[in-house]
Amino acid sequence: MITLSRLLLFAALNAILGHSIALDLDDYSKANNQSLLWAPYRSNCYFGLRPRYVNDEPFVLGAMWFNSINAQGLAKVRHFVEQGDKLDKYGWIWYDPRIGGRETIRDSESNLQLNFTFVKSHSGENWAVQVEGDLIDKNKEAAHSIVIYMKQNGKEDSSCYLNQNDIFTKNRNELSFTGFSNELKGYTIKLADENSKFYKDAVPPLSPDCDPSKPTVLSMNIPDDQLWKAKDVFQSLLKDSIQAHVETNPQLSANLIPSALTIRNIHNFPPGNVQYIQQTFEGHFKFNIIFNKKGSKDQIAENSVDHLIVLAEGLVQQKFNKKFGIADNSLYRDFAQETFSNLLGGLSYFHGTHLVDRETAFDNENFDRIELLNSNEEGPLELFSMVPSRAFFPRGFYWDEGFHLLQLLDYDSDLVFEVLHSWFNLIDKDGWIPREVILGDEARSKVPEEFRVQNPNIANPPTLLLAFSEILSRAKTIQEEMLESHLQENYQYEELDSSFQGDKLNNNPELLISYAKEIYPKLLKHYEWFRNSQKGMLEEYMEVPSINSKVHMEEAYRWIGRTFTHCLPSGMDDYPRAIPPDIAELHVDALTWVGVMTRSMKQIASVIDLVEEIKRFATIEENIVENLKTLHWDDDQKLFCDITFNDDANTDEALRKFVCHEGYVSLLPFAVKLIPHTDVERLKHILDSMSNTTTLLSPYGIRSLSKTDEYYDTGEVYWRGPIWLNINYLCLDALEYYFLESPLKKSEGQNEELFLQARTLYKQLRQNIIDNVYKIWKKDGYVYEQYNHKNGKGSGVQHFTGWTALVVNMIGKLPEEL
Ligand SMILES: *[C@@H]1O[C@H](CO)[C@@H](O)[C@H](O)[C@H]1NC(C)=O
Ligand SMILES: *[C@@H]1O[C@H](CO)[C@@H](O)[C@H](O)[C@H]1NC(C)=O
Ligand SMILES: *[C@@H]1O[C@H](CO)[C@@H](O)[C@H](O)[C@H]1NC(C)=O
Repeated sequence: MITLSRLLLFAALNAILGHSIALDLDDYSKANNQSLLWAPYRSNCYFGLRPRYVNDEPFVLGAMWFNSINAQGLAKVRHFVEQGDKLDKYGWIWYDPRIGGRETIRDSESNLQLNFTFVKSHSGENWAVQVEGDLIDKNKEAAHSIVIYMKQNGKEDSSCYLNQNDIFTKNRNELSFTGFSNELKGYTIKLADENSKFYKDAVPPLSPDCDPSKPTVLSMNIPDDQLWKAKDVFQSLLKDSIQAHVETNPQLSANLIPSALTIRNIHNFPPGNVQYIQQTFEGHFKFNIIFNKKGSKDQIAENSVDHLIVLAEGLVQQKFNKKFGIADNSLYRDFAQETFSNLLGGLSYFHGTHLVDRETAFDNENFDRIELLNSNEEGPLELFSMVPSRAFFPRGFYWDEGFHLLQLLDYDSDLVFEVLHSWFNLIDKDGWIPREVILGDEARSKVPEEFRVQNPNIANPPTLLLAFSEILSRAKTIQEEMLESHLQENYQYEELDSSFQGDKLNNNPELLISYAKEIYPKLLKHYEWFRNSQKGMLEEYMEVPSINSKVHMEEAYRWIGRTFTHCLPSGMDDYPRAIPPDIAELHVDALTWVGVMTRSMKQIASVIDLVEEIKRFATIEENIVENLKTLHWDDDQKLFCDITFNDDANTDEALRKFVCHEGYVSLLPFAVKLIPHTDVERLKHILDSMSNTTTLLSPYGIRSLSKTDEYYDTGEVYWRGPIWLNINYLCLDALEYYFLESPLKKSEGQNEELFLQARTLYKQLRQNIIDNVYKIWKKDGYVYEQYNHKNGKGSGVQHFTGWTALVVNMIGKLPEEL
């Protein structure tokens, strides 16, 4: 086992580097807490901000806009990201949550182009948002209303507040506020325009408090848990105001519209902790919102925002270039940075209760649709996570998140740990993590009611452990390289204060050990939960001679909660499975995922040197690898397949029926690298399957289901043909692992042909995917949930910058020898 040598390695490393640079977990966590405190973590909003891990009294901000040149504008207030808004484009063009970023928006229907640029001071305590906009069509008149709302959350009797300061400064277009929260302490907020062109009517406004030629502020109270309805509140206040205008002035003329669409305190609300600020512009506009913590040493001065933005953009570009190594003149440079920035732009912080049904058990006889009617509210919980799509899936998805982390791993591994940590914190007393994490009303509002409730019998592919396993392997390599380069006396430790690089954990073996120790007991619980809850029934197959003679009894699994038509827990909802469903069926992907978890547990145990545990996991892993062959390999079709019990068999051997559907499920053991290097024969069959254009290989990537399968392109056509980037990424990664970096390569001359085939496939597949995703992005401005298997067009959810952003890692990562 590697343990002893690793320990020696750590000891040597520490001796050499000394304690001066050793970070402990507390310092490390503090540094992360600081640089990740503020960011646009309300990713479900076009622009929405809140602090991380400040739950009782957070400050919350959101932005909305509409064109108030005519009455229809009111119905088109933009707030939450909606595909139905049909914006030409929205999203981050450069972004890093530790540093800052710029989101650009192009909204033809509102005749508006709009940028939000977010930056922070070095300490991370202070931030500024610059909002800049202009007309798209300068020949068309416009009155762009930009509405910023801010709230200091907190119970009514607590000491928190957010007040507008009375003292008007010399410049009337400058507003200032003072706030306090017990968690954030005192702060000030300034909102200042820079030569913006406010809307000026030829006619006087309807009333002095509805004058669009200057900023309007309305202060009121909204309960914390209702703030997500800020847009509804705003719209209904405007409607009430218009109603009142019409009553006093029945001949309300159309050219008074921008004035009529200006918010006023029609109900005489007393001032409260919510501030709505509406500004209406007729041309180019630019204003800054600056948040400074009282007493902070690096407060942001009003005139330094532009400079800070230049610095931030430079830093983000530098970090991106360093981590991905995509040349500045590469065709894909902007595409890659934008797509990756949008993955990070989905980084969100959630806090609230969720709905869990712990009573409903599953009907294993009928496989009917599952209804979870016994839900209880549990929590509150918190989650720091990316989201698959800000418009459509703005919440945590267990199966997606591992892929998000695999992407992020190339960029900021400390951030990967932060996110993993948060997910692992969700592991409950039974070891369960929900498949979808929907915390609070704001997140819930985006989920159809039937999908809100989670159930602890349901699993999902444990991709988080796939990511964790990858990070541990990489950290090991990096540390070995560090030691080596140090021994060669050219080792340079990166300055600790390069706090934005996000690779402290990798460079700090002690830290990794502490982290692994902290997380191990919970992970173990999760692992056991998965193995127990998804256990398959192997006893039925004991009369099958080829199974009986070799099988390891403990390792057989099935997804609980599949129905006649769907297997949602597997992540590949409509991928064909046994028909009819059977209580005794065994799923090859379920077993494979347990293999991934086991390997990962083994690696963690080895980091913290749990000798007995390492042995135990190694044995389980071996058993799983063998059972994949014994139970699931169909030697006729040369594929890994689900199996089911055949009551009508003539022979004992035939009691096991293979349910073979060539596609992502049959490739999975290969894709997650569970096939031994030495199993050349199976590797060859899988390679043939992936390279075959009649079945799986398309000009746009590997199809989810073989073209020759009877279910190909039928039903919902979700996982029955379309190209998905997550599995394609795993396949490329596995090709690299088996054939480009493999130790087999040198020793086994007779496999020359196999390696040639693999390298050809690797190059072609990689290029096909990049070309197609890039082409569609160029045309539509977005990346998609999946790509059509017949024409490569984007399909499913638009602007799906979750795992589809893996294309960036494909671009960035080209092994030298190719
Ligand atoms: C960082 O924040 C987390 C979450 O609030 C907290 O548990 C942890 O103690 C903080 N770390 C430090 C060193 O303050
Ligand atoms: C928004 O940002 C982009 C990219 O930095 C820039 O080209 C564009 O001019 C900006 N638009 C406005 C209205 O500021
Ligand atoms: C590709 O798959 C088809 C259908 O299974 C099969 O007939 C053909 O022989 C395969 N081609 C190669 C080159 O293996």
